[in-house]
Amino acid sequence: MKPKVLVTRIIPAVGLQRLEEKYDLIVNEKDCPMTRAEIITRVPDVAGILCLLTDRIDGAVIQASPGLAGIANYAVGFDNIDIAAATARGIPVSNTPGVLTDATAELAVALMFACARRIPEADRFVRSGAWHGWGPMQFLGADIAGSTLGIVGMGKIGQAVARRGHGLGMRIVYHEEARLDTAALVFPARFLGLSDLLSVSDFVSLHIPLTEKTRRLIGRRELSRMKPTAFIINTSRGQVVDEAELARALQSGVIAGAGLDVYEQEPAVKAELLQLDNCVLLSHIGSATTSTRDRMARTAAENLIAMIEGTEIPNLVNPDYISHRPKE
Ligand code: DGY
Repeated sequence: MKPKVLVTRIIPAVGLQRLEEKYDLIVNEKDCPMTRAEIITRVPDVAGILCLLTDRIDGAVIQASPGLAGIANYAVGFDNIDIAAATARGIPVSNTPGVLTDATAELAVALMFACARRIPEADRFVRSGAWHGWGPMQFLGADIAGSTLGIVGMGKIGQAVARRGHGLGMRIVYHEEARLDTAALVFPARFLGLSDLLSVSDFVSLHIPLTEKTRRLIGRRELSRMKPTAFIINTSRGQVVDEAELARALQSGVIAGAGLDVYEQEPAVKAELLQLDNCVLLSHIGSATTSTRDRMARTAAENLIAMIEGTEIPNLVNPDYISHRPKE
C-alpha cells in the first residue's frame, strides 16, 4: 500500500502528478481552503501534508497525525505553520524559495507604477464615461526615474526589486538586520536604519517575513517618518503593517499612497482602504504566473518526497527538527 499524502487544495498538475507516482493522494477538490477541523479529520493516517499559506497548521494538526514525516508549504512564507510545534515533534517543514522571486518582484514594481501613475484610477475614470478628452492637469502622478527606493528586507525578493529599481534609474537604499556585502550586489545600494530609510525614500517596498519581530513593524510612528509624497508597497505579509494606521495615514495625507497585495485579515480588506483612491488593492497575486505556480508545485512536491523518503530536503526551514526525531 502506498503512503497517503494530504494536498489541502488543488495545485498545478505537475506537482500532483509527481506525488501521484508515489503516494495515494487525498486532495481537497473544492476551490476553497479546508477548515482546520477538516484538516484534522484527514491527517491521522497521512505521511505528508502539502499545504498552502491559507491553511493554519498548528500543534493540534501536527498532534493529530502520528505518522507524519513532513509538511511542505506551497509558498515561500511559512508563518501559517507552527514551526516550533513541528520541530518539537521532529517533523521537517519546507517552503518554496527562489522560484517565485521574479514574479513577486515584478508585481512590487507593477504596484509602484500603479500608485505613482494612478493607473487604476485612470482606468476607472475611462470606464465611468467621465473622460471627455486629454487634459493638461489630469491624473498628474509621481516620477519613478530619479526617485529613491527603500527596500525593507534585502533577501532574494528585496534584491530582485532593487535590481529592477536600479534599472529604472532609482537610487537604492535598504534596511536589513545586517549590512550586506554590497560587492556581491550588481547595483549600488546604501544600508540605512529603518527610520532613516523611511524618511529618505519616495517608495518603500516591504520584503520581510512575518515573525513576532516584524508583526506591525510599520505603524503610526513609522508612517509619520515617511515623506508626504511617498508611497508604501507591500507584497510580503499584511500583518507587517498596522492597517488601521495605514488607512489613517492615507486619509490624512501623511503619505501619498499605498500599493497592497496582502492584508492583515485576508481575505477581508478594511472598509476604509476600499474607499481610498490613493490605495491600489490586489488580491495576493505576487506569485500568480502560470510558470511560477508550476515551479512552486514541483518544488513543494519534491520537498515532500524528500521528507517522506528520508533523503536530503531541498528547502528545509527547521533544520533543528532532526535533534527532536524519535530514535529508530
Ligand atoms: C508566498 O509564497 O509566500 C506568497 O505570499 C504566495 O506565493
